[in-house]
Amino acid sequence: MQEHVTAKATASLVEDALKQRFGETCAVDPELPGLDELARIAGHRVHRRFLPRPVEPGLLRLLCACALSAPSKSDLQQADILVVRDKAKQRAITALIPDMPWIEQAPAFLVFLANGSRLPEIARLRGKPFPNDHLDLFFNAVADSAIVMTTFMRAAAAVGLGCCPISAIRDRPDVVSALLELPERVIPVAGLCVGWPAETGYITARLGLDATLHEDRYSAGDVAPKIDAYDRRRDLRWPYRRQRAPERWGAAAFYGWSEDKARQYAEPLRADFGAFVRAKGFRLE
Ligand SMILES: Cc1cc2nc3c(=O)[nH]c(=O)nc-3n(C[C@H](O)[C@H](O)[C@H](O)COP(=O)(O)O)c2cc1C
Repeated sequence: MQEHVTAKATASLVEDALKQRFGETCAVDPELPGLDELARIAGHRVHRRFLPRPVEPGLLRLLCACALSAPSKSDLQQADILVVRDKAKQRAITALIPDMPWIEQAPAFLVFLANGSRLPEIARLRGKPFPNDHLDLFFNAVADSAIVMTTFMRAAAAVGLGCCPISAIRDRPDVVSALLELPERVIPVAGLCVGWPAETGYITARLGLDATLHEDRYSAGDVAPKIDAYDRRRDLRWPYRRQRAPERWGAAAFYGWSEDKARQYAEPLRADFGAFVRAKGFRLE
């Protein structure tokens, strides 16, 4: 009886989270196994404020091992994790991105790497040709790395830790790469702040499933009304506190997600990243 009540409560937690996320109800059967895990996944939120409590190295290692248990394209294992233990290095990374002080404040900071160096090295060790030095090698390594990072976040959430990915480390990939002594064909995909959350955080609304979930064929249809509906739904709960670049774009009467993202991507961002990746030895043809 008690178990059923708990299952019902967990099922409504999942339903509530998805309702906040997508603005629609997804029915959740209380008899489903794994509802605790679904509740954590559906209730995902990043954390940028942490308690001043360390994350024990043994726990971090355990979570890294769980993360590196993630699936890997063709079992090629092209993702690595770098734990930044040296606080001076963590500070040096924060100094590159001063508008994100949570990087320095995070009790633990990791960098997820795409490793395109191991496979050519294995080919050399085994005396084989390596005719696969092209975009797919890079793409697979980045995908593996992103999957490992996501799995780390899931594992961290399961033990009560909070995380925030940091792609801003790629604003200065050359400096980060030198600081972390990354060799040829090893590039940072994202950093990750990890710590015990100081706040509960909140669920961010996402585009409706009518825009991002397809069946049998891609069928987004007319996206404009879907984006508009999302902008309005999101604004009801989490209106933007400030408008981006008003000096360039003026003050919008209604400032929603799409206006914010359009303004964000109206500026060139990381236009030199491709040059960095090529200079690191990846061939992107
Ligand atoms: C690959 C990736 C890179 C990100 N980079 C940053 C970052 O540099 N700084 C930051 O504060 N948040 C970063 N985030 C967090 C996103 O801003 C956050 O996931 C998004 O606003 C949605 O919020 P939610 O994850 O709480 O739903 C990143 C997230 C991802 C997945």
